[in-house]
Amino acid sequence: MILTNETDPLRDTLYETVRLLRIGGMCEIYEVRNRASGEVFAAKILRDAQRRSPQTHDRMRLERDILFEVHRPTVHHHVVRPIAFGTAADGRPYLAMERLRGRTLQEIAAEGDDPMPAPQAIDIALQILDGLFVVHALGVVHRDLKPGNVFLSRPRGGRRLVKLIDFGLAKVSAQGRGVGRVAPLFISTADEVFVGTHRYTAPEQADPKTARNVDARADLYAVGLVLYTMLCGREPYYDLERHRDLLRAHIQEAIDPPSKETTERLSPELVRIMMKALAKNPADRFASAQEFSVALSQFVERHPSTAPQKELSALEHARMTAELEVSPERQSEILARYGVPSAQALPELHKKLEENVRRTPKLRKKWEAEVERHRELLLKSSRPHRKS
Ligand SMILES: Nc1ncnc2c1ncn2[C@@H]1O[C@H](COP(=O)(O)OP(=O)(O)O)[C@@H](O)[C@H]1O
Ligand SMILES: [Mg+2]
Repeated sequence: MILTNETDPLRDTLYETVRLLRIGGMCEIYEVRNRASGEVFAAKILRDAQRRSPQTHDRMRLERDILFEVHRPTVHHHVVRPIAFGTAADGRPYLAMERLRGRTLQEIAAEGDDPMPAPQAIDIALQILDGLFVVHALGVVHRDLKPGNVFLSRPRGGRRLVKLIDFGLAKVSAQGRGVGRVAPLFISTADEVFVGTHRYTAPEQADPKTARNVDARADLYAVGLVLYTMLCGREPYYDLERHRDLLRAHIQEAIDPPSKETTERLSPELVRIMMKALAKNPADRFASAQEFSVALSQFVERHPSTAPQKELSALEHARMTAELEVSPERQSEILARYGVPSAQALPELHKKLEENVRRTPKLRKKWEAEVERHRELLLKSSRPHRKS
């Protein structure tokens, strides 16, 4: 439903709102359409209640500057892409962005607290680190990295891509101030005010004595938290509720090592990588997103069963299916070429099996053996691996 002109917060702008997607603490996110081209985007609009807060206006401008800078001169796949910035008729700033399709990690986690398979969790962590690499190179610290700000986007027909969103609390470090166009304004945060999300904050960000000086390593701690949450199926300190208890825990309480059950499933080496990111002292963590990413990638190399399963785009999928159709006898070769002993291939194979058996019953044995083989491969890749 298109909102009537009068109630449309973006009336008198290039965009019209199509529907409300989310209401956040500071902002509302709408699906919007460019009036001239008809193209669909998402727009983050400052909430009415925040209209008179100059600081939130500043934050939105900073978010705009950071996002445009990240994508200059070329688009970066792991950070949401900004389109335009303007002011609505009622004075509220809005930021139009690419419209992401999919769900945030938080929404996915809310569906059940089963841990995520290691290959998928590692893949997501690597993509987050890829995004952070560019962000940090600009001297920017996100400061609010958490499952709700990690969007798993699935473009129509494309592969799943992790996109970092919500740079509303980002900080530009002193070194970053001169970089490109970023940081025409520098938002200082009063010492006593905590900035971030209590459940997902780094110790130094939680502590008023050090909060002002957080650097990129605070984001790496947050990646450690996200990884822990994905692999263990719950957050560290999940039983704490009160804000100050959470802050105190991040500052001084050791993080529970993953449960026995989880440790049996995960390689101790992977647990070590995760716990290094979660070190209380930033100096004990990985020094950069790149270093963290290298550690994870080397781990994957040593444990091929944790390699991210290849995601096929719709086009590749269609091509593979077509090829399977014409040459059932070369099936495994074709699957291997597409890098698929994967969960995706299995239902596909079952479908094909049924169709083909109906058509050519003598192929039944062959197809059944093929399906069995892939099931075994899958099982093997989800089994805990032995120490090497
Ligand atoms: N570009 C986008 N496309 C689709 N949904 C989005 C987009 N950006 C944000 N959202 C949704 O809106 C929610 C709030 O956006 P976010 O930028 O995190 O604002 P806030 O500062 O209020 O948390 C996100 O968790 C996500 O579900
Ligand atoms: Mg958010």
